[in-house]
Amino acid sequence: MSNEISKFSDPGLPEHIHRKSDSDPMAEKRAEQQVAILFLISALGTVLTIASYIFIKQGTFVYLPILGDVEASQLFLGLGLTISLIFIGFGAVQWARRLMPDTEVIAERHEFRSEEIDRKEFVETIKERAATAGLGRRSLIKRSLGLALGLIGLTPLVMLRDLGPLPKKALNETSWKSGTRLVTDPGNRPIRPEDLEVGSVAQVLPELPEGTERTLENIGTDAVLLIRLRPTEFNLDAKRLSWTHNGIIAFSKICSHMGCAVALYEQQTKHLLCPCHQSTFDVTRAAKVIFGPAARPLPQLAISVDSQGYLVATQGFTEPIGPSFWERSS
Ligand code: FES
Repeated sequence: MSNEISKFSDPGLPEHIHRKSDSDPMAEKRAEQQVAILFLISALGTVLTIASYIFIKQGTFVYLPILGDVEASQLFLGLGLTISLIFIGFGAVQWARRLMPDTEVIAERHEFRSEEIDRKEFVETIKERAATAGLGRRSLIKRSLGLALGLIGLTPLVMLRDLGPLPKKALNETSWKSGTRLVTDPGNRPIRPEDLEVGSVAQVLPELPEGTERTLENIGTDAVLLIRLRPTEFNLDAKRLSWTHNGIIAFSKICSHMGCAVALYEQQTKHLLCPCHQSTFDVTRAAKVIFGPAARPLPQLAISVDSQGYLVATQGFTEPIGPSFWERSS
């Protein structure tokens, strides 16, 4: 290292003062350890970021004197990211200040694009400097930097969680199961068959166990359309007919084409229409597709009444709800 340090003697510049770490191996070692510690703190910051995403439940608050109640996951996420980015910067600066070659050079002015030969030399020089900076030799720094950078790279992956559950999982698992009551949406009131007139349609949701929060995600996947016809109007096989109750039939509200909410019911024709691409489903034939791009009927929910006369599901959906696309295995 010492061979490369030039004592610059141009009278226009102050005398160059060499660093202790250039001449004292102990000081060099200490500097190396300091840089490694800064990178390790950065890595801990990233661990804190990831842990706050995974382990801190949303809706948990901590009280801070000036800010008041703050969502804990957001607080620690911000703190972790700040630590990881700031300390990786501190580490890089310290590395450059205390360990990288401390050489002063004069660069003559010349036209912007260098000669080809100079460009090649430059690349060679960079390689040499990288070697001199000890990228190969300083394994402690190399490893701690690799750890810090690697963990930072993981952060965006963890944030994918904010996009919600994986579609396949969300569409395979709804809150409907045997005995779940159908409740009004809005209102959350259990429904009796007599609440629905012939020809009417209602959106319902599953009644959730006490203390379970209804989220936007499960409203989206649990929404069901309840339609009442005259029992004689159905054209169903015995099994599907047994899934109805006194002319009331229930289907998932999520279109089997691309997942829009099927929102229109034509009372005269008994057709359900999806407003997105006009898929049309025949309610009398278990929501069979009679027009449009949807490839399969809307999944039917089997219903009956419980001992108190309220409408209940007799089982969960027997097929995935929503677009058929997610059922494809390839
Ligand atoms: S999403 Fe319903 S028809 Fe396309």
